Parts: sequence; C-alpha cells; structure tokens
Amino acid sequence: MSELKTATRTQLPSVSARGRLVPASPIRKLAPFAEEAKLKGVHVYHLNIGQPDIETPAVMREQLKLISEKTYEYTPSAGTKAYVDSIRKYYAGLGIPLGTDEVLGTTGGSEALQFAFLACADSGDEILIAEPFYTNYRAFAAIAGLEMVPLLSRGEDGFHLPPREEWEEALTSRTKIVVITNPNNPTGTIYAREELEMIAGFCRDHGLFLISDEVYREFVYDGARAVSALTLSGMSDLVIVVDSLSKRYSACGIRLGALCTRNKAIFEAVLHMAQGRLSPPGLAQAIAPAAASLGPDFYDGVVSEYQKRRDILYEGLTRIPGVFLRKPEGAFYFIARLPVEDTEDFARWLLTDFSLEGGTVMLAPAAGFYVTEGRGLNEVRIAYVLKGDDLLQAVKILAAALPAYQKARGLRD
Ligand SMILES: Cc1ncc(COP(=O)(O)O)c(C=O)c1O
Repeated sequence: MSELKTATRTQLPSVSARGRLVPASPIRKLAPFAEEAKLKGVHVYHLNIGQPDIETPAVMREQLKLISEKTYEYTPSAGTKAYVDSIRKYYAGLGIPLGTDEVLGTTGGSEALQFAFLACADSGDEILIAEPFYTNYRAFAAIAGLEMVPLLSRGEDGFHLPPREEWEEALTSRTKIVVITNPNNPTGTIYAREELEMIAGFCRDHGLFLISDEVYREFVYDGARAVSALTLSGMSDLVIVVDSLSKRYSACGIRLGALCTRNKAIFEAVLHMAQGRLSPPGLAQAIAPAAASLGPDFYDGVVSEYQKRRDILYEGLTRIPGVFLRKPEGAFYFIARLPVEDTEDFARWLLTDFSLEGGTVMLAPAAGFYVTEGRGLNEVRIAYVLKGDDLLQAVKILAAALPAYQKARGLRD
C-alpha cells in the first residue's frame, strides 16, 4: 500500500456540503432552554410547535387493536389498495376525482414534499415561494440541491400572495417550481381563488410546477373554504398536491400522508423513488381507512375548537400594546409582530428569566421562517394547539412579560 493511501485512511471523511447546508429547525432551537425552565419547576406553555392536543379519533385507535396479522409485511410502495382508495374516496367527497395512479401514499406530508422537490427539479434549480414559509421546506430544498427564492408577503396584506409582477421579476431560467401552502403555516392565511388563478396563470405561462401543500385543508374559520390546486383549470400536468393525516386526524405520530398528481411522468418518477424506500408505514395504513367513517360532525367539532382558540389568542394579543397581527383565517398558526427588536432574544429570555404564576411561554422566533437575512426579527410564529384556559394564561404571561423585557433590556424606564 502506498504511503499516500495509508495517510488518507487516517483522516476522517468530511460531511457533505449538502449535509452542512441543511439548517437546524428554528422551531426546536430553543428547546434546551425550555427543558431547563421545566427542571426549575416552571410550567412552559408551548406556543411554538404545531403538535395538536386533540385526541386521534377513536375509530382509528380501535382499528389498531384489531390488527391481527402475525407478520407486519411491506406494503405496496404506493400504499395499500385500502389506503389509496380511502384517500381517493376522501377527494371524491371534495368533488375531486383521482385515479389509482394519481395518489401515492407517503411517510407523512414530509416525504411527499421531499419526493415532489426531487421529481420536479434538478440540483441548482430554483423554487419560488412567498416568505415567511414553513421552515422545513428549506431542509427539503437543501437535500434536493434546490434554492429557495423568496418573495415577500406582508402582514399588513394578511400575508396574501404578492402580485404577479413580483413573481415575474423573481423568475429566472433556473425557476422550476412554485410552492404554496394553503391554508398557510406559519401565517394562517387562506388564498382566495383569484390568487390561485393568478399563480396558476404564472405557472402555465412559464411551464412551472405548482406544488400545493394542503395539509391544513380542513382548518378554515368563519365559514371560509380552502380551494385545492387540483381544481385549477388547465393545470393537470403542473399540479402536485401534498397531503397528510397528521393534522386532519390529529395523528402526527402515525406518519402517513399522500402525494396527488395527474402528471403521469411525475407520478412514475415518484413511484420509483417510493420503490427505493419500499413502502409507507404499514400499521398506519391499516388504521387510516377507518377515518373514512368520520362524518361532518367530527370535522365541525375540531374546527370550532380551533376557531375558539384562535379567537382567544387574537383578542388577547391584539389588546397588548405594540402587538400587531391580522386575524388568521385558517390552519392553527399566525405570525405576530411584537414590540421588541429581536424575538429570538425575547423568546430565550422568556424561558431563562421570566415566569408569572409559575409559568412561562415558549415562542418560535419568526426569522427562521424567512430566507432573507434580517426579515422577521420582530415577529414570532404562534401555534394555538393548547386548551382555551392555557391560552388565556399564555396571553396573561405575554402581556406581563413584554414590558418587563423592555425594562430589562433598557428599552423603557
Ligand atoms: C405546512 C406543512 N406541511 C407539511 C407538514 C408535514 O407534516 P407531516 O410530515 O407530519 O405530514 C407540516 C407539519 O407541520 C406542515 O406544517
């Protein structure tokens, strides 16, 4: 063996450039400070993360107990017939007919997103998206070697989509995909049909894929409706919808979702990727079809509970001097502007230096939901997945914490 070969063997290989590019999640960044606060006996109200506290429907939990297989086998790569048919039935109920070769079962919406990014664009290509956006898209883009090109959506406009001119300006020869999240995490915005038609026209005129993340479809308030991109005309070959059971059935842990597209070539590419990872979770697919028996009562109950929570937070927070937010229309998140310069510092301080009546609040600083450096520094993303009484207490804590923080940082007497 040559000397050179021996020398190289003793060196540690380095992490790939791609591996180094994948950002840490801003939602979990402050978790160690929350753990420390809890060790000190402080109750932490988690407004930072979208883990619903509502029970997974009993029909799904009971189905799990009925599983009697002696071997937990791989399922077909696109999902079992029963699971795929249950998703098709669900879409048919929305007036959206989908064939068996247009629905593919995935490990959560997350895998559907990763597959969609990988199937629609090549390394070096660009994704256009309005920021702030769901922060994990950055990780999926980094893994696929894609660049997120952000356009600014503004709180004053309710974070609705920027006008077409701004999309045209951001377009380059590398643009391949537009991503929308409807209803939106982190902003809580629901896009109107006209906005979607505008974006559809832009995609059609420039031959771009439209990846529409609709995992919060049911979470719409004040009688609003979320329009699926699958209903946009002239878009059959361009639309990929990302779906998930995580939020709809308060079942994040079963890790089941779906990718829906009428584009045969994209479906085939995704199917091949799915074959590489063998199958979506089998036990989850065994229990998921039971959700088909849930009627409008289930959805209405969940939606009215979240609407109540939204109202508690909206009314409470807008009464705090210096806090700005528009009434969120859907999902269970919103972006609020706070009277501080650096919400990351404020969020950390809440966990390390402040408590009221034995409790404090954990917030997600919004900067991590923007790509553009310096944006969102005075904003936080808030999730309302706690019970009403806890939300009232969280508002009380924030109302007391903001002036105390400003004083501690010398921003007021
Ligand atoms: C907008 C959005 N898309 C996709 C996901 C992924 O969810 P899952 O992989 O649990 O289906 C989430 C999770 O919070 C989300 O907020």
